[in-house]
Amino acid sequence: MPGRTRTRARALAAVALGCALAAGTATAAHAAPAAPTETAAETERAQQSGLREPADELGLRMGTAVSAHLLDQQVYRDTAATEFNFITHENSLKWESVQPQRGQYSFADADRIMEFAQANDQEVHGHTLVWHSQLPSWVEDGNFSEAELTEVTTDHIETTMGRYAGEIATWDVVNEPFNEDGTFRDSVFQRTLGEDYIAQALTTADSVDPDARLFVNDYNIEGINAKSDGMYALAESLLDQGVPLDGVGIQGHLVVGQVPGDVRQNIERFTDLGLEVVITELDIRMDLPVTEAKLERQAADYALVMDACLSVPGCSGVSVWGVTDAHSWVPDVFEGQGAALPIDEAYAPKPAYWAISGALGGATGPGTGDPDEPGEPGEQDCLVTYAVTSHWGQGAVVDVTVRNDTGEPVPDWSLTWTQPAGERITGAWNAQVVQSGSEATATPVAWNGTIAPGGSVTFGMQIEHGGEAASPAAFALEGQTCRTG
Ligand code: XIL
Repeated sequence: MPGRTRTRARALAAVALGCALAAGTATAAHAAPAAPTETAAETERAQQSGLREPADELGLRMGTAVSAHLLDQQVYRDTAATEFNFITHENSLKWESVQPQRGQYSFADADRIMEFAQANDQEVHGHTLVWHSQLPSWVEDGNFSEAELTEVTTDHIETTMGRYAGEIATWDVVNEPFNEDGTFRDSVFQRTLGEDYIAQALTTADSVDPDARLFVNDYNIEGINAKSDGMYALAESLLDQGVPLDGVGIQGHLVVGQVPGDVRQNIERFTDLGLEVVITELDIRMDLPVTEAKLERQAADYALVMDACLSVPGCSGVSVWGVTDAHSWVPDVFEGQGAALPIDEAYAPKPAYWAISGALGGATGPGTGDPDEPGEPGEQDCLVTYAVTSHWGQGAVVDVTVRNDTGEPVPDWSLTWTQPAGERITGAWNAQVVQSGSEATATPVAWNGTIAPGGSVTFGMQIEHGGEAASPAAFALEGQTCRTG
């Protein structure tokens, strides 16, 4: 099904996001002039189309978490506006920020982020209404009866959601309700109201803004495990009861080299229930110090998560948790770890940035193309890499990158190869792929029709295989055999 993801993503965009993200014109409007303080690294990144444009093209929400006080900085504002079409309040919508004392609401920071997002045509993900953490002590230690806590929670949801009704399209109504073993986490809500607090919160939220899409969000539920099984059982039970649940938020606080291999299957089991899935807080941390090898591994890990989401039509967004490594919560919380985001502390793109951009069908490297050196004289003038990014029983997801080293643009490109015996291509994105017998041909989609000199195109495929995904022996671009690497 060539182009399936793009088509489905566009359909999703039209249904769930309205036309704001679907038009694909947003970046032009936000291609901010270089800020006076911009460094060479920032300029290099700004010269690219950013993550936003290819995400807009695909109808994918590509987001970040934003802190109100950082909006004072022009470079932070420019980056958040250029790179992302989707914004989450990192802290400003949490209970302790919004209602620090009973009945005393304070929305200044939350409003500031809303205004920023609206000025930049960005969707907003509401984070979060009912959560055991960053909860003021008047709630946590309030010794409320069941009736009182219900009233307090209902008022909090009504006031907070009500303020932004029609403006925030998706909400983490409940955050982190699970223990690692899939049982319900102890919290003042769970203790006082029982697990029904989740259904009550969703029902209240639905009455406040019936058009908002309502999520339950948690971490360590990226792969199939006891905790995500707990989320799955909850989702099934809420849907059976007719409770208004629209989606599951998978936070995605991950570790380099430890991304589960079954993220795609896990996402798919939730979308098979008719739910939407968003990767809400992606960061992939590493032990410090940073090395080239760790950055490369991190890039592959980001590509894996992006591909997992992009290969499932009901996965409608991916948000990273912070604009750059300088703003990440990771070093504060995980000792000795950091560098978890795709843009570094100096606002320079990391290999992970290009991996995300490439997965979205955008540029895969700085300048006109790939960061690698072009080929040596005498070598063939194209380079193809074929990388299995995830693998399960009889299936795999593969990223194919073809780089043009000819020195001339290659318009209306066509890449041909022989798929290894017993393998069948069952889906593709960012290229049209047709398989006839074992012969496969990839041709462009609308936005990657020409490969610039030194530039490259990456597309993804889903493969069915007999137990092992082998690499094709050779590839030809316009009939000319490429180097492989
Ligand atoms: C974190 C913020 O990034 C920090 O600034 C804050 O001090 C603590 O919370 N899961 C969530 C997020 O749902 O709200 C958390 O954000 C990170 C883990």
